Amino acid sequence: MVAIGGKHQIINLETGQLDRSVFVDPDIYAEEQEKVFGRAWLMIGHDSLVAKPNDFFHTYMGEDPVILCRDGRGNLRAFLNMCRHRGNRIVRTDAGNTRNFACAYHGWTFSNQGELEYLPGEEEAYYGALDRDCLRLVEARLDTYAGIVFATWDKDAPSLDDYLGDARWLLDVSFNRLDNGTEALGPIKWLEPVNWKTAVDNCSDNYHVPTTHLSTIIVQGRHRGIPRLTHEQQFQSESKHLFVNGHSLTMRFLERADQARQTHGITADNREAFEAYYRQTLAEAERRLGSLRARRLQLGNHSLFPNGVLGLRLAHPRGPLQTEFWHFALLEKDMPEELKTALRRGSANYNGVNGIFEQDDMDNWRGVTNSALSPIGRKYTQDLSMGVGHDRRHPEYPGVVSERYTSESNQRLFYRRWEQFMNADSWDDIPLEPKAMRYEGTATLRG
Ligand code: FES
Ligand SMILES: [Fe+2]
Repeated sequence: MVAIGGKHQIINLETGQLDRSVFVDPDIYAEEQEKVFGRAWLMIGHDSLVAKPNDFFHTYMGEDPVILCRDGRGNLRAFLNMCRHRGNRIVRTDAGNTRNFACAYHGWTFSNQGELEYLPGEEEAYYGALDRDCLRLVEARLDTYAGIVFATWDKDAPSLDDYLGDARWLLDVSFNRLDNGTEALGPIKWLEPVNWKTAVDNCSDNYHVPTTHLSTIIVQGRHRGIPRLTHEQQFQSESKHLFVNGHSLTMRFLERADQARQTHGITADNREAFEAYYRQTLAEAERRLGSLRARRLQLGNHSLFPNGVLGLRLAHPRGPLQTEFWHFALLEKDMPEELKTALRRGSANYNGVNGIFEQDDMDNWRGVTNSALSPIGRKYTQDLSMGVGHDRRHPEYPGVVSERYTSESNQRLFYRRWEQFMNADSWDDIPLEPKAMRYEGTATLRG
């Protein structure tokens, strides 16, 4: 049964008006930790970060610290970083390689398969009465999509395959193009004084680019040897916004099959080398994805519900007014080193902590967040009415598709998805679109 209505009614889909309190209210924030971050499949890392047996990488699910590890048998696991004795954190470093995790408080020691292996005084202090089997590390459900690791705390959550649904049909063109897959570098980490949702809803906001990033796109246009992006170009663009199961995607059409799929890091000097790479890998990509996805489609800016932003980047909530960003560079393993270097530098220079796009953006998100702190400002709703009535199901593409590239359809639907999670008693109340696309080619969820 899917619940209709509920306690949280923040977005009006007919008028596009959004209640600003969702950005600042501490009670709403606390409830999000349970109902959104406690239920959703969350991106937490990449299998290349824990490539060898016994590798671990420290990450987060919402505010909860999590140990992503590859156990001695090679299986990926995600554990709550919490000692089952009094709750101390058992891992204090960002990454490493170890067969077990010893708590620094009293010495309880857990294997990287989650078992409580050893504790001082098991016989002497506990008289042999401790049930070690009941004191395993708390473990999340884990699955991977093309090497990207996801986890959820909810045992009743659907499969990752169903959670991504037909969003994968388009995600594949970036993340699942080649047999050898991708590797993750990073992350660069920093704090921004913004509510996490302002960064997520920005992922489908192409309207802001010619204004917010004017100086940046003038510089970038010069480096790339192309004219700068204008509003007029965007209004006439064939590109679309797709909204599938909470995930907001921008779909662009390539002019040529060998066009570089990235923007940041491409220059007039290296464009030829990128095009040669895409020509060389086209047959393989076509075998994996079919002709349309391999030759014509490009994944633009996008978010994965709830807090995946622009590729393998995470917006970890840190209170209603603060977000910790984790920025990884995700690169195809087969790419020549000089092209990897160009993309790595490009992604950090534009969207890293000192990224020139990122700096423009975070100032806007701070302004949007802070306006909601004012009891005067909060009387006035945020306006997300652009393109109301101009989005619909499409015969060829998945999800709800906007007519125009410049639209607030995905923002409205993101807040509707948030309402669905916040108003649900369990996953039974959260609607999921069945997969309906035909996946040409050999690529699967696992790569
Ligand atoms: S809290 Fe970890 S051993 Fe006591
Ligand atoms: Fe931006």
